[in-house]
Amino acid sequence: MNRSVILGTGSYLPEQVMTNEDWSKRVETSDQWITERTGIKERHFAAPGQATSDLVVEAAKRAIHDAKIDKHQLDLIIVGTISPDNAYPSTANWVQKKLKLKPIPSFDISAACSGFLFGLIVADSLIKTGVIKTALVAGAEIMSRIMNWEDRNTCVLFGDGAGAAVLGSSKENKGILSTYWGADGNLGDLLMQPAGGSAMPATVETVEKKLHCVQMKGNEVFKHAVLRMQEAASKSLESAKLSGSDVDLFIPHQANIRIIEATIKRAGIPPEKTFINIAKTANISAATIPIALDEAKRQGRIQPGHIVLMSAFGAGFTWAGVVVRF
Ligand code: ACO
Repeated sequence: MNRSVILGTGSYLPEQVMTNEDWSKRVETSDQWITERTGIKERHFAAPGQATSDLVVEAAKRAIHDAKIDKHQLDLIIVGTISPDNAYPSTANWVQKKLKLKPIPSFDISAACSGFLFGLIVADSLIKTGVIKTALVAGAEIMSRIMNWEDRNTCVLFGDGAGAAVLGSSKENKGILSTYWGADGNLGDLLMQPAGGSAMPATVETVEKKLHCVQMKGNEVFKHAVLRMQEAASKSLESAKLSGSDVDLFIPHQANIRIIEATIKRAGIPPEKTFINIAKTANISAATIPIALDEAKRQGRIQPGHIVLMSAFGAGFTWAGVVVRF
């Protein structure tokens, strides 16, 4: 049977850095509150004029280079994002145009922080069944454009960036070993962007009331995040017939250091085998995991033969786990 293998990864963080100190000059907050409650110290913000697809293009070029493939070998582009360039066409289509690719299928996945892993799961299915051979899967966000800069409950939590992976097909005993995913629409209103779609089209009032921005009931989301991140980690390990002690590196979604700590405790994964970069990036929703994956690879924390577990939770609610042997 064919397996999907991660041939290469790449990531891109915009140049501008905003620290907790910078935020404390704009809203009533402090470095101490943000650090203690979330683990975040700073985040990157896109420059005016940069669109989400521009961030993906940078990450994608690096991933294609790392994979040592010709860009024309790509059969598919998937971009996980909740901050697309436009409602339509998809950000993936703009990426296809900007990378000057053939007219290959390209589409976005809206699964918030689980968007990259949902993309991996879709691409994996298409590769395993022989429909395609090579895919570019990215996660990218410009959260700074969809958050309320006056709401201290949410604005300090997010950052901008993009990460990408090139997937190929292999008959070797490596690659994506197992996947697990889920969603619960009943809890959608705990974390959402209310306006801008057909349910609440844009009006002067929706703009004035900041209804085009992220709204979150943070502590309720927190409880679900811990349960579902652990469920996604444990179930995907179980279906690969592995346990927490087999994991060489765990890459969790980075929304809050306390969610990560609670997840690894429940899933039996040692802290030293957990990759954490939240201090420097904050929560970049769908981009978080592919950026962390690329950083972990570049830091030498992923070696041939290693078992890498990724797990995510996000708005929707959505959750997913993926186990890969490198
Ligand atoms: N600075 C100072 N005080 C603040 C700040 C801030 N930036 N933000 C909130 N507070 C205050 C609140 O007003 C509240 O004050 P009060 O007690 O006087 O009312 C107090 O701090 C505690 O607020 P809580 O919301 O209870 O704080 P909590 O410990 O829950 O931390 C946080 C908040 C960080 C948002 C946490 O709940 C969390 O991480 N939630 C989950 C986020 C998540 O996983 N999201 C999913 C992915 S995101 C996506 O899908 C797009």
